[in-house]
Amino acid sequence: MTKASPVSLAHDSASPSGHCAAQDKRHPRPLRIAIFGFGTVGSSVARILAESRPRELELTHVFNRGVERKRVDWTPPGVIWSEDAAAVLSSDVDVIVELAGGLDPAGEWVRRALEAGKSVVTANKKLIAYHGVELERLAESKGGHLKYGAAVAGGIPVIPGLEQGLAGDRIERIEGILNGTCNFILSQMQEGADYATVLAAAQAKGYAEADPTEDVGGFDARSKLAILMRLALRVQVNPDEIVPRPITALAPVDFSYARDLGCTIRQVSCAEQVEGRLAAAVGPMLVELRSPLAWSQDTQNMVIVTGHYGGDVVFSGHGAGGHPTAVAVVSDLLVLAHGSRRVEIPSAPVHVGAEFEVPHYIRFLVNDRPGIVAAIAGALAKAQINIRAIVQKAGYPAHALPFVVTVEPCKSSVLERALAEIRTMDCMLVEPLNLQMLE
Ligand SMILES: NC(=O)c1ccc[n+]([C@@H]2O[C@H](COP(=O)([O-])OP(=O)(O)OC[C@H]3O[C@@H](n4cnc5c(N)ncnc54)[C@H](OP(=O)(O)O)[C@@H]3O)[C@@H](O)[C@H]2O)c1
Repeated sequence: MTKASPVSLAHDSASPSGHCAAQDKRHPRPLRIAIFGFGTVGSSVARILAESRPRELELTHVFNRGVERKRVDWTPPGVIWSEDAAAVLSSDVDVIVELAGGLDPAGEWVRRALEAGKSVVTANKKLIAYHGVELERLAESKGGHLKYGAAVAGGIPVIPGLEQGLAGDRIERIEGILNGTCNFILSQMQEGADYATVLAAAQAKGYAEADPTEDVGGFDARSKLAILMRLALRVQVNPDEIVPRPITALAPVDFSYARDLGCTIRQVSCAEQVEGRLAAAVGPMLVELRSPLAWSQDTQNMVIVTGHYGGDVVFSGHGAGGHPTAVAVVSDLLVLAHGSRRVEIPSAPVHVGAEFEVPHYIRFLVNDRPGIVAAIAGALAKAQINIRAIVQKAGYPAHALPFVVTVEPCKSSVLERALAEIRTMDCMLVEPLNLQMLE
């Protein structure tokens, strides 16, 4: 790692290592970096630092449990490989790059680093979604910085985009594809494959964990949505208040019916603030084939931000993977090295609801008999819900007949009440599948 012409470490307050800015200006040197967690992203960060050799950044430590099995020969010769977190935290590193993931012990390392006046860069969406506000306050009080540009949508600069590029707007709505695993599964199912087959393929390619619940259940996406809501809508929400819907109930027939309706299905995370009412949802939704959301294939991510003044802005690209995510991490490090100014985004704690007024797609699987459609129509009419279309494809057996009812925009809670009555009908073979339709 060359140390030629290092930049000044001047920050808007004290430097990460606790030196005052004036002292750093007298002794400019690269930022000393410790990577905590040498896995997919951690090793990619080291790879970029080793190949690009930014003069502002110097990798000095790598921490990992069982570190000997992680050692590589392409990092700078002086790098200290350690399995002693406390020793690295009390060393003279300026920035801890936390890439181990999870709430603990990662959260403990981050707190200790910030307490010591160091800065932290992390890709850990769970930690930021649940503890970001508290950790940012700690960083501010100790003169360090906390940056997490990689925590949402991996390599797509949606967080810096919200913090800076769109700070002048009043954001009213965000919607996006925030989980690459689900997008891979759903874009393959769009081509006719069934869920179990595609999940196995995703696991074989390393896109899905052995236990995929965090992804397919929507928990990963809701952490990311909570982070975006704070930056875009300026609200602090407890991620647990957003109840995600899994993609596991989708069947190939849903993609076939969706196509007949000019749509496909994606796992969408959306939040909006309309007339003081805040709502958020994560789950499979119908998106029109002409919508940018439908264009995202495989593990791509996409975020559409709607501003009161600026209208729609679309961010898209690789939302996961070692190298794309590492780009976001290294970009955060460069911002720190160039003298990050703390971005103040005021936000207040609020409760979030799930009430959207949108059209819905409801797929039933029934043991056919006369009167089923009339009974469903009756329950919907009682709730003042207008049917838009009834679609039934030929070629399915009467004893397991899938058909779809779409309804005009109605409140989610009103539709749920009607469905509570409908699901008691003895012809229903499975729970009706109720999906929002984005228009
Ligand atoms: N991968 C992506 O595409 C992606 C995208 C965006 C954000 N992220 C986020 O980036 C972070 C890292 O993800 P990753 O995919 O790189 O994970 P990973 O491949 O599992 O790497 C994590 C590394 O941290 C080490 N580690 C975990 N817990 C530890 C502990 N308690 N003590 C010491 N070392 C520990 C692991 O060691 P072992 O090898 O011993 O397990 C592993 O080397 C996560 O917060 C993730 O959510 C990842």
